[in-house]
Amino acid sequence: MTIETRPITQGEAVEYLRLTPWVSGFPQEDPEPVAWYTGRAAYPPLVPPTAEQLEGYAAGLLTDSYRPQAAFVDGKLAGGSAIVPVEITLPGGRQVPMGGVSWTAVLPTYRRRGLLRQMMGALLDDCREHGEFLAGLSASEGTIYGRYGFGTATFQHRWEVRRTDAAFRTPFSDPGGLELVDGATAAAIWPVLHEQVRSQRVGELKAQPGRWDGLAAGRLPADGGGPSHHLVHRDAAGEVDGTATFRLPWSPDPDYAGELQVGAFEALNPEASRAMWGLLLDFDLTKRVVAARRPVDEPLRWMLANPRALKLARTRDNLWLNILDVQRALEARTYAATDALVLEVDGVSWRLDASPDGAACTAAPGVAADVSLTVSELGSLYLGGVRASEFRDAGRITEHTSGAVSRLDALLRADRAPHNAMAF
Ligand SMILES: CC(C)(COP(=O)(O)OP(=O)(O)OC[C@H]1O[C@@H](n2cnc3c(N)ncnc32)[C@H](O)[C@@H]1OP(=O)(O)O)[C@@H](O)C(=O)NCCC(=O)NCCS
Repeated sequence: MTIETRPITQGEAVEYLRLTPWVSGFPQEDPEPVAWYTGRAAYPPLVPPTAEQLEGYAAGLLTDSYRPQAAFVDGKLAGGSAIVPVEITLPGGRQVPMGGVSWTAVLPTYRRRGLLRQMMGALLDDCREHGEFLAGLSASEGTIYGRYGFGTATFQHRWEVRRTDAAFRTPFSDPGGLELVDGATAAAIWPVLHEQVRSQRVGELKAQPGRWDGLAAGRLPADGGGPSHHLVHRDAAGEVDGTATFRLPWSPDPDYAGELQVGAFEALNPEASRAMWGLLLDFDLTKRVVAARRPVDEPLRWMLANPRALKLARTRDNLWLNILDVQRALEARTYAATDALVLEVDGVSWRLDASPDGAACTAAPGVAADVSLTVSELGSLYLGGVRASEFRDAGRITEHTSGAVSRLDALLRADRAPHNAMAF
């Protein structure tokens, strides 16, 4: 058996697409996350594309924003994946290129023969060739990607609030105003607002091209949950500073009837956030609000008279980061304190001189390390979403100099939890 890994040609694009769960109909994620939005057991079955649609998608596949790799076993295309180039916001505000590993699948009859391992090597090499010092992915399962150097970097919550429990602590007089808009208006507002939001939020990604085209076209979401509604907040000067997309799906099941599902919600300031949640949590003839893929530090909880009313239904890792170039990565962000530490990452020592203005990172061969860790743990720490002390206590990083882990935490501390609402 010979395994060859290489980018696909245009003539192989249809065969490559046939591997994907979207066409093959094979499960894409473990059964739990399909309940992210509705809490229900499963989405209705996917409707696979027709042969003609598939040809159309294949014709537009090979672009600068999609860099596929495939694994061929004795000449047969048996595995595929791709790098989707994205941009991520780092602590300090720099927005840097990241290779997004996506669309990974191996034919069931060719699994566990090393196809993913070989493809991953090619994908990460491809990132380096394109100057991307970070790679990221969202993982179907938690046990697969740590071995390749990825670490969990952002997390998300799904929560629910019953309308009867949703009183706010303090009355609020909105200096701006709310408006329901149609899909075309929402499709024009979202990209502009998201660009502003992502510059404020560490971990947030640039949206993929065409991300909101479906709203403008009035397309119904594929899961049968009914049409989307779009809420916009404007500040006192009339500038848009928040928007939300939500649905009110009909259900014969009394447990689910009357549920308002928030699919997307972004606000530039607490006033917009307070005003939009105020309407959504007290929407006539609904029983409760469900919001998925929310930041773990959602301020709404602290706006409520009863913070316990916001019930966490699910928590999950979202972005996994892989640091492909330690020096460039550590120099690209800023730090919450001024300090110098020697970090041993996968056996290689680096001296980090860090400050709120930036950092210098230099190879320090032979210098005794303060802390030893792997690149996977560094990926988790990098945006500030996991503390080094948690890894120390879990036995995953070693402290050689007393107090060095606390100092590392002080350097990496984030004011807000890193979060990404966009996917790739
Ligand atoms: C997950 C998947 C891509 C793995 O591909 P594969 O070619 O079978 O993986 P490999 O044979 O290269 O295995 C590489 C390593 O990962 C491990 N691994 C692979 N799949 C795993 C899984 N589902 N759970 C735990 N470990 C797994 C292998 O044991 C192997 O470990 P080792 O290097 O320590 O020996 C493939 O099984 C698949 O397509 N699954 C269904 C769809 C899916 O989950 N896609 C991922 C979307 S993020």
